[in-house]
Amino acid sequence: MFKIFFIPLLFTLNLQANPYASLLFHGNCTTCHFEGKTVSAPSVIEFKQRYMDAFPQKEDFIKYMSAWVQHPQKETSIMRDAIKKHALMPELGFGLDTLEIISEYIYETDFEKKHKGHK
Ligand code: HEC
Repeated sequence: MFKIFFIPLLFTLNLQANPYASLLFHGNCTTCHFEGKTVSAPSVIEFKQRYMDAFPQKEDFIKYMSAWVQHPQKETSIMRDAIKKHALMPELGFGLDTLEIISEYIYETDFEKKHKGHK
């Protein structure tokens, strides 16, 4: 019984990686990070650009961002000016696997297109 239910679920998550990642991102990050506007935290476009400059390779980008978001620290920040301006981001308590999915979504998504062009 267990197998019958469990295996199709894994399949569904894999095939629909994008909508799932989008939900995780929009549900958990955009409360503070607006996509195009810096208010109480740097916009997604702004922090993505800074990470793209520092980590142009997708694997490095995902690895560094998810590890940093798991345990935000001034010492490992690449945006200390943002910490000065907004104070350090709080720890949210997500596992690394979830943060890797979110970071990959951020890497892959063109936020300049707003919601017309991305999910
Ligand atoms: C409670 C508000 C809040 C939430 C929720 C939040 N952030 Fe942040 N985040 C901040 C603030 C404020 C900063 C700027 C200061 C800093 O860099 O610590 C920041 C900075 C960052 C940075 C720059 C890191 C650096 O090198 O300094 C990244 C990347 C980031 N956030 C990713 C995320 C992701 C991904 C999520 C969702 C899983 C998220 N944040 C959710 C407030 C938040």
